[in-house]
Amino acid sequence: MKHLTDIKQLSASQIQRIFELAEQIKSSSKKKNSKRLRGKTIANLFFENSTRTLVSFELAGKRLGAHVVNVDLSRSSTTKGESLKDTLLTLQAMQIDSFVIRHPENHICRQIEAWLQPTIRLVNAGDGNHQHPTQALLDIYTILQHKKNIESLKISIIGDIKHSRVANSLVDALHILGNRKVHLYGPQQLLPLSNDKAHICTSMQSTLEQSDVIVMLRIQKERMAEHNIPDLENYHQNFGLNRKTLGLANPDCIVMHPGPINRGVEISSEVADNSPSVILQQVENGVLIRQAVLAFLLL
Ligand code: CP
Repeated sequence: MKHLTDIKQLSASQIQRIFELAEQIKSSSKKKNSKRLRGKTIANLFFENSTRTLVSFELAGKRLGAHVVNVDLSRSSTTKGESLKDTLLTLQAMQIDSFVIRHPENHICRQIEAWLQPTIRLVNAGDGNHQHPTQALLDIYTILQHKKNIESLKISIIGDIKHSRVANSLVDALHILGNRKVHLYGPQQLLPLSNDKAHICTSMQSTLEQSDVIVMLRIQKERMAEHNIPDLENYHQNFGLNRKTLGLANPDCIVMHPGPINRGVEISSEVADNSPSVILQQVENGVLIRQAVLAFLLL
């Protein structure tokens, strides 16, 4: 496999292989200073802001012994009109082995793949509202640290589903792994009309009841017209997770959020900061899973 640009490129056994690699790295005495990727150079190009994904890809590459270059796009020649293609061809000429790219445009990776030499690897770190494959992998890896039998879990994803690449990749990944119990809920204007891999719910109660895993999503204002942004004061009351609404779910459920969180909007601080929240575990696993993905593609 050359690139990871869409989670649907992976089979269940390939996902399993990435998780096995993550376990190997985790149990290694050299998990922070391995030489697995010695001699490889990875360039991170983030055309959208990021904390978790950018830093975890940087740490992942460095902890495997690769050279990692974070291209500061605000100071690059893209500001002088250099195109994306010319930027990538320029960096490619410097013998980069792998590009990790975040970009606001859906499906941009298809174009980028066509420009790259055959030996170069590409990882999608989030394209528009389309895909965020490594987020889905770290989410499922985290779920499996708490739950067995992924296919039988009721997994509820709540919030701005329509603009969420995280939701798309997670629904696809769960489908690949045999789960047919994903439930989606949010304000009507932030929900898809239909989804062939998930149930669209009509109330917070029916969504949360018997949920084993709850994934809360923020409102992605950066992808929305002003008039579609919900009233934030009412939002928490109708769609937010707090101690009261959490009580509707299974007592042993876990609460997840890909971050960044907007406290008091989609999730209360009390829920975000306490058990059964696994939000910071997701962050921790993000580095490990990105190490595993880089090793999977580059070795
Ligand atoms: N989950 C996620 O993609 O977070 P960042 O935008 O901080 O990378």
